[in-house]
Amino acid sequence: MAENLTGTVAIVTGASSGIGQSTARTLAAAGATVAIVARRADRLEELAAAIRAEGGAALPIAADLTHAAQAAGVVERTVAELGRLDTLVNAAGVMLNGPTEELTLNDWDRMVDINLRGLLYITKPAIPHLLAAAETSPRKVADLVNISSVAGRFAAATTAGYNATKFGVTAFTESLRQEFAKQHLRVSVVEPGRVDTELFDHREGSAEGFTAMFGPIEYLKPTDIADAVAYIVTNPRHVAINEIVIRPSEQG
Ligand SMILES: NC(=O)c1ccc[n+]([C@@H]2O[C@H](COP(=O)([O-])OP(=O)(O)OC[C@H]3O[C@@H](n4cnc5c(N)ncnc54)[C@H](OP(=O)(O)O)[C@@H]3O)[C@@H](O)[C@H]2O)c1
Repeated sequence: MAENLTGTVAIVTGASSGIGQSTARTLAAAGATVAIVARRADRLEELAAAIRAEGGAALPIAADLTHAAQAAGVVERTVAELGRLDTLVNAAGVMLNGPTEELTLNDWDRMVDINLRGLLYITKPAIPHLLAAAETSPRKVADLVNISSVAGRFAAATTAGYNATKFGVTAFTESLRQEFAKQHLRVSVVEPGRVDTELFDHREGSAEGFTAMFGPIEYLKPTDIADAVAYIVTNPRHVAINEIVIRPSEQG
């Protein structure tokens, strides 16, 4: 039975587009006040306006999460202005796929910097606040949800760097899950297949590479992933949804 998130505060990264944007909107509709984070401030302002127009509450925070100080600043500002932190959803990420001989070290660095380092940089300062929420909030539970990927479960040709970062996210999640289970900080991973977002625009040829592998199929929508995140965080305290793999039904 889904619980209401009224009175809780969530941070959603990658909120300027795609999965993060949709997740922020969905959590706000469920009652959470959402701190929305990405680099593109104009997109965040638009999203905040849309959330407010729907009766929700949002705090846009423009930050580049590949800088540890900016990531820590997001957590500090959220707690200073909104008073607490119950939920962190890590959705910020980039995907630069293609034949390894065509990719540069810089392409791999960019994925490591945001998909892994950025996620670690914001998670570390968030943990004490999430543990405090799990101990003292009315629901007595807090949530950390990491958006990994099917590519964090199964490796494939021409996606080595992305696989490395997303396997890292999946492993990081499982380790934290075990460490904080008794404290009622639920740590979950969502592993989507192909979702219709800007992710496949990050490098020319990514979309074509996917179609070559799986054919022309109907993609998931960002709201499908937002619904999965909402399912995780609105479950009552005694239920932990550890991992959700979610693919388009035609993705083999
Ligand atoms: N779409 C898919 O098929 C799919 C499948 C599996 C997993 N995923 C994962 O889902 C997550 C969301 O991706 P998406 O599909 O929604 O793609 P997207 O529409 O391109 O969104 C990526 C988000 O990450 C943010 N971001 C990138 N670099 C950042 C940085 N340095 N600092 C702060 N924010 C940064 C972007 O905002 P700014 O550019 O404004 O900073 C944007 O909001 C990613 O982790 C991706 O790997 C996606």
